[in-house]
Amino acid sequence: MKIAICPGSFDPVTNGHLDVVRRAASLFDRVIVLVAVNSEKKGLFTVEERCDLLRRVTADLPNVTVDSDGGLLADYARRKGADAIVKGLRAMSDFEYEFQMALTNRKLNPAVETVFLTTTADYMYVSSSLVKEVARLGGDISPFVPASIIGDILKKVERTNEV
Ligand code: PNS
Repeated sequence: MKIAICPGSFDPVTNGHLDVVRRAASLFDRVIVLVAVNSEKKGLFTVEERCDLLRRVTADLPNVTVDSDGGLLADYARRKGADAIVKGLRAMSDFEYEFQMALTNRKLNPAVETVFLTTTADYMYVSSSLVKEVARLGGDISPFVPASIIGDILKKVERTNEV
């Protein structure tokens, strides 16, 4: 049984993330989508809300589960007996940061390989930050996120704008 982890902030999940998760699910027996803490980013959604959105948009993928963790990804991977960490690469600008994380994770846990999937061209420019910015300024986010979670994002952004 080959197990992969798709880690990320997922604040919120985008079509780009979903594309990577779907493709990982076709390559591995089991995929854990992990909401992990990125200390560089302040979140809009709580970790529980992010997990809920992820569970809804991956409900049709029987070998995908969603989890969260506040510790090191390398330790989580060890606990789960994971074979791979799967990440999407959008552009060269992602590369340096992703490469650094992959090498650090290998040092911390040599048993887990980091695998990069090239993002589908349609989603190259899509990011959670872009989705939040467009939503905040009243733009159409339907090209960037699954239809089933558009309402949740708009509601959240509205509520945050009111504060
Ligand atoms: O979607 P992001 O923000 O690019 O994901 C980054 C994330 C959450 C995968 C990364 O920050 C992470 O792995 N955090 C868990 C804590 C950890 O292991 N940090 C050291 C990474 S080498």
